[in-house]
Amino acid sequence: MIVAIDGPAAAGKGTIAKDLAQQLNLAYLDTGSLYRAVGHAVLKAGGDPDTDADARRAAETLDIEAIDPVAIRTREVGAAASKVAAKPDVRAALLETQRRFAHHPPEGKAGVVLDGRDIGTVVCPDADVKLFVTASDEARATRRWLELKQADPDLTVGDVLADLKERDRRDSERASAPLTKADDAILLDTTDLSIEAAIHAALDIVGRR
Ligand code: DC
Repeated sequence: MIVAIDGPAAAGKGTIAKDLAQQLNLAYLDTGSLYRAVGHAVLKAGGDPDTDADARRAAETLDIEAIDPVAIRTREVGAAASKVAAKPDVRAALLETQRRFAHHPPEGKAGVVLDGRDIGTVVCPDADVKLFVTASDEARATRRWLELKQADPDLTVGDVLADLKERDRRDSERASAPLTKADDAILLDTTDLSIEAAIHAALDIVGRR
């Protein structure tokens, strides 16, 4: 079974995907972490995420085993990820990795859940279940601010909201695999849902398939 979860930043995709994976014995791939790792590698090498050659080199030499899960979760890396993700060469370099994971789940797993921006439309158009998870801008900014403020106490919700809007605009307006809901994806708006209620709703949708 392949479950595809797409949606804008901080809508709750990751939380829902992880829980579904655990409850349904599925392997989980956070595809945003791949783009974040490419953005991080470019910054670490002193490159520019807007420069095609820098982004392509980082994507083609990405070592998935070496991704640092903490270093890739900063605001700077999020912005760099969204810039490298707009480049067709970067998307092409990461596509095969994602498809291989989707079609070859690890031994003992009943299938996979992938979350990202283009899973239901490009990576796995044949997915058994597609969810498009959204929430209001304010709800998403507040959630992301709660995550980031420990490391950055001066950060305001307004800063985070501005970042998210900029990133959503870039992710939605790019020519290559933009963020968009697949026609056959089911919309799940988590604005007024607790984490438990959002997970319950997602499980219900998967169970009905
Ligand atoms: O989900 P996230 O915030 O960790 O993703 C980081 C960036 O990567 C996001 O701005 C868009 C990009 N991305 C993408 O273009 N396609 C995906 N399948 C996943 C993420």
